[in-house]
Order: sequence, then structure tokens, then C-alpha cells
Amino acid sequence: MTTPQIPTVNTINRGLPAGKMPELRMMPSPSDANVYGDVFGGWIMAQVDIAGSLPATRRANGRVATIAVNSFVFKNPVFVGDLLSFYADIVKVGNTSITVQVEVYAERNRLQADTVKVTEATLTYVATDSDRKPRKVPSIETLINS
Ligand SMILES: CC(C)(COP(=O)(O)OP(=O)(O)OC[C@H]1O[C@@H](n2cnc3c(N)ncnc32)[C@H](O)[C@@H]1OP(=O)(O)O)[C@@H](O)C(=O)NCCC(=O)NCCS
Repeated sequence: MTTPQIPTVNTINRGLPAGKMPELRMMPSPSDANVYGDVFGGWIMAQVDIAGSLPATRRANGRVATIAVNSFVFKNPVFVGDLLSFYADIVKVGNTSITVQVEVYAERNRLQADTVKVTEATLTYVATDSDRKPRKVPSIETLINS
């Protein structure tokens, strides 16, 4: 008799982007929501800004400041108790700026099979020096050799 296999994370289709690691995972609580249990857009925007700043900070090898929210779409509502995963990818590197796309997925009621994309946003960060002035983003070679 064969033992039934218990599904693992790898064998469940979670509906999350395959092969990618989220920058952040968060679960909003009642204080982050209105009286109907819908999470405030401003709370989501704050977490998106933090998630986007993480790859920008790594690429800048130091502090960054958010200069622009280029686009922000709330595609589906977020509810108290959703487990949110924030994925962030650098889409452009300029002289002093780094532009990052952030996508947010919600696992409803902590059920891995019930996953929806809730937010898409693009933000631009500027690498800054200790005087909070723009500084050049280091080259990849400089980062590798540092
Ligand atoms: C970030 C800051 C230091 C940049 O200084 P600045 O003199 O305005 O910067 P610049 O005009 O030289 O622009 C810097 C870069 O941002 C880009 N940029 C400027 N305005 C932009 C906009 N609206 N959208 C996208 N990119 C923009 C520029 O193209 C430039 O990129 P590049 O060097 O790669 O070509 C300054 O604007 C600042 O302190 N802003 C407040 C930041 C803040 O408090 N954020 C919230 C908390 S982190």
C-alpha cells in the first residue's frame, strides 16, 4: 500500500509568480481597513513604496529617495486577513534614477489556491548622497568589485 502524498508548496498551484521571491509579505490588520474591512489604499501604497525601495537600494548601493509614483492601479480590493506578496523588479536605470515595477498578490483567507493580483505600480527612486542630493547610480562592475 502506498502512502498518500501530502501536497507541498511546490506541488500546489499557488497562483503566485513562478520562480520569483517576493520582497515583502504582509498581512493587513483591522486598523489598516475601513469599517467594511477594505484595506486603505494609502496603506497599500506605503508597503508598495517600501517593497520598491528594496531593489532600488541594493542597485544604488546606498540610500534612495522616492521621486515619483509613475502609475498605480488597484486592480482588486484587499481585505483584512489577506496574505500579501510584493514583487519588485527594476525596469530602468538612469544616471541617478532607478525605476521599479511592483506587483502585489493577495492570498485570500490564507488559502493558497485563492490568489489574485491586487495592485500594479511603477515608482522611480533617486540615489542620494549624505546631503540628500542626487548621486550617480554605480555601474554593475563597481558593484561586483566593491
Ligand atoms: C530626490 C531628490 C533629491 C532629487 O533631486 P532633484 O534635484 O529633484 O533631481 P533631478 O531633477 O536631478 O532628477 C533626478 C532624477 O530623477 C528623475 N526624475 C525627476 N522627476 C521625475 C519624475 N517626475 N518622474 C520620474 N523621474 C523623474 C530625473 O530624470 C533624474 O533621473 P536621471 O538622473 O536618471 O536622468 C529631490 O527631488 C528630493 O529630495 N525629493 C523629495 C524626496 C522625498 O522626500 N521622497 C519621499 C520620501 S523617500
